[in-house]
Amino acid sequence: MDVTATGTPTGTPFSTLIRVASHEQHTEAETSPFMGHLLGGRLGVEAYARYTEQLWFVYRELESAAASLKDDPIAGPFIQPELFRTAELERDLAHLRGADWRAGVAPLPATTAYAARVAECAESWPAGYVAHHYTRYLGDLSGGQIIRDKAEKTWGFDRKGDGVRFYVFEEIGNPAAFKRGYRELLDAVNADDLEKKRIIDECKRAFDFNGAVFRELGAEFPLSA
Ligand code: HEM
Repeated sequence: MDVTATGTPTGTPFSTLIRVASHEQHTEAETSPFMGHLLGGRLGVEAYARYTEQLWFVYRELESAAASLKDDPIAGPFIQPELFRTAELERDLAHLRGADWRAGVAPLPATTAYAARVAECAESWPAGYVAHHYTRYLGDLSGGQIIRDKAEKTWGFDRKGDGVRFYVFEEIGNPAAFKRGYRELLDAVNADDLEKKRIIDECKRAFDFNGAVFRELGAEFPLSA
């Protein structure tokens, strides 16, 4: 079998390469203290609301770029309105914080940096935008469902109701099939090997941004015990 310098068999689908390359960071994200405490039911609903608020700043950038990227040869195929989350986040925030939630939201420094990088990619590097798109949406369709279940049980939200709508993809009837289709899009991405490597690097950066947001949330919501 032909093997590249990194030891990966040549011809490995890009969707596999990107998943394997971010695997370690994924484990870190999953096991971050903030996530652990949140999902372990050790934090109040305020911590969950603050996290939801941070997501809103990021998804606003991911989705405000959609119109200008939808015909882009690289990012265009990934722009699928059934994934859009901004409206759901706004509904969740109205539930969590009340109708005037906008007056009280503020990005953490890590969120500001994350959102700015998404905006920068959207504007000047569509392949980099794909990395951010993958990191968020494929995660939401996967582990997001675990988070939803825990949030419903911990803070008593209605099943798939206000408070957890972010995690509910009403227009995606079969998430497993959707993810398969998404991986096919990744495998067919209109980029050469060098650009694919850059996408993988940007994906790692996207995970870093998420880790930084978790760290700052963890500092804001330390466990008192
Ligand atoms: C406690 C938090 C998390 C849990 C429990 C979790 C769980 C999971 C699970 C079970 C999968 C596999 C789904 C499958 O094989 O189809 C998955 C995939 C994924 N997760 Fe997470 N996750 C968490 C946090 C995150 C975070 C913070 C990110 C990044 C922002 C993320 C990004 C991803 C991505 C991109 C995938 C898709 C991997 C692929 O198949 O290419 N996850 N997650």
